[in-house]
Amino acid sequence: MAKVYVFDHPLIQHKLAYIRDINTGTKEFRELVDEVATLMAFEITRDLPLEEVEIETPVKKATVKMLSGKKLGVIPILRAGIGMVDGILKLIPAAKVGHIGLYRDPETLMPVEYYAKLPNDLEERECIVVDPMLATGGSAIEAIHSIKKRGAVNIKFMCLIAAPEGVEALQAAHSDVDIYIAALDEKLNDHGYIIPGLGDAGDRLFGTK
Ligand code: PRP
Ligand code: URA
Repeated sequence: MAKVYVFDHPLIQHKLAYIRDINTGTKEFRELVDEVATLMAFEITRDLPLEEVEIETPVKKATVKMLSGKKLGVIPILRAGIGMVDGILKLIPAAKVGHIGLYRDPETLMPVEYYAKLPNDLEERECIVVDPMLATGGSAIEAIHSIKKRGAVNIKFMCLIAAPEGVEALQAAHSDVDIYIAALDEKLNDHGYIIPGLGDAGDRLFGTK
């Protein structure tokens, strides 16, 4: 069964409080999502493999540890996932970025894929699928199906806010995908919105309605 990690770091929780606040405007919302994505990337990369390397300091030769060159891929779910990409790339700038476009049909809440452009060596990469919201789980489940179909085997999912319903659905659909969350909220409302959540992530990020 996939593991679920909820990041309780005080900086993440503090910034998330502002992200949730209805009085936080688009510019500040975007900056905060970027910052939280960086903090989460720090935690999510904790298990990256290291190798020993010989270097020379100004004082003497030394054996030190560096990343062993594992290939990474960051896959935002459009639109709102885009808001988390730059924050992650600040820490892992060599990662390739693939995009999956999905929207939730407002009537059925089912995800509809409208775009996919991905690195062609997905099977060699550790893929981090990102989206601020895991609500019913439909979008994340479909995005992960889509990248698995194209070869991805090593996948993590990272979001800001999740509903228990979405976590359960994602675990059931992809038991090999660990889930990284900044906050696990109470539940979904009748329209599939997370309570208390932050509203519509895409609209708040891009200033649309
Ligand atoms: C939002 C959000 C997720 C999805 C989560 O996107 O960014 O992708 O809903 O809901 P789910 O877990 O029930 O699938 P939305 O469909 O509103 O599209 P947008 O990012 O283009 O606004
Ligand atoms: N998508 C959002 O943007 N917000 C929610 O609360 C649920 C789905």
